[in-house]
Amino acid sequence: MHKKEIVKSCAELIKEKMGKIPSTAIVLGSGLGNLVEKMSDRISLDYSDIPNFPVSTVAGHDGRFVVGKLNGVPILAMKGRVHYYEGYPVESVVLPVYIMAELGIQHLILTNAAGGVNNVEQGDLMAIEDHLGFNLQNPLIGKQNSYTERFPDMSEIYKAEMIRKLESVATELGIKLKKGVYAYSTGPTYETPAEIRAFSVLGASAVGMSTVPEAVVANACGIEVCAISCITNMAAGMQEHRLTHQEVIDTAASVNKKFTELITNFVGKL
Ligand code: HPA
Repeated sequence: MHKKEIVKSCAELIKEKMGKIPSTAIVLGSGLGNLVEKMSDRISLDYSDIPNFPVSTVAGHDGRFVVGKLNGVPILAMKGRVHYYEGYPVESVVLPVYIMAELGIQHLILTNAAGGVNNVEQGDLMAIEDHLGFNLQNPLIGKQNSYTERFPDMSEIYKAEMIRKLESVATELGIKLKKGVYAYSTGPTYETPAEIRAFSVLGASAVGMSTVPEAVVANACGIEVCAISCITNMAAGMQEHRLTHQEVIDTAASVNKKFTELITNFVGKL
């Protein structure tokens, strides 16, 4: 099947099983999936029940779409995502974003767990202002598709207006929200200390293994994007102990309350 046919068939199935699709979507990263429990009137659809849809193999990542209301606002949540390091082609990593474009999603909130590089501390939430994607196999390489231009502009992937609203919600709630540049790293290894020093010189505040492929495609499809990193650890060479996925999951769990509060209040402002 061609991409367009796969995208359309997935979108059709989602509409058939989940009914009316909201205009705001959120992708919940490592350890951040509990937000769906705050949603009312939930309808779920497992990724494994959608033919051709990629299914995550990572601990801390369930795999399902959830439609429901957060703070009375209808949203489409993705509890779990797939990553390039799982061995999926980058095209599969971004398939959900094309499906969102087909479903008419207008606002997309991407979330992730990330290592801290500059001006952030473990446990901080950070709005992504821009990214370094040199390591990315660009997901738009290939024949041009009908969702995007050939040469999409990337001057403002993470919409300043959405960041401004996020900041104002954070201030109202008394939640500290940092802002910074996210450096993409393919994983699955964490970075070397030398790579982290290089990212730091290049202006990164955080580093992580997701979000950038989805943001690039969403921007190219005309979806308004904002992204939030949860700083789960300081990056390689910046803390005494070794990096583990357990630390990532544990820190994400410890910030769950403020993360949920921030998102819950933010969706009402979009
Ligand atoms: N590096 C890359 N990805 C991550 C990290 C990190 O230190 N922490 C959580 N995701």
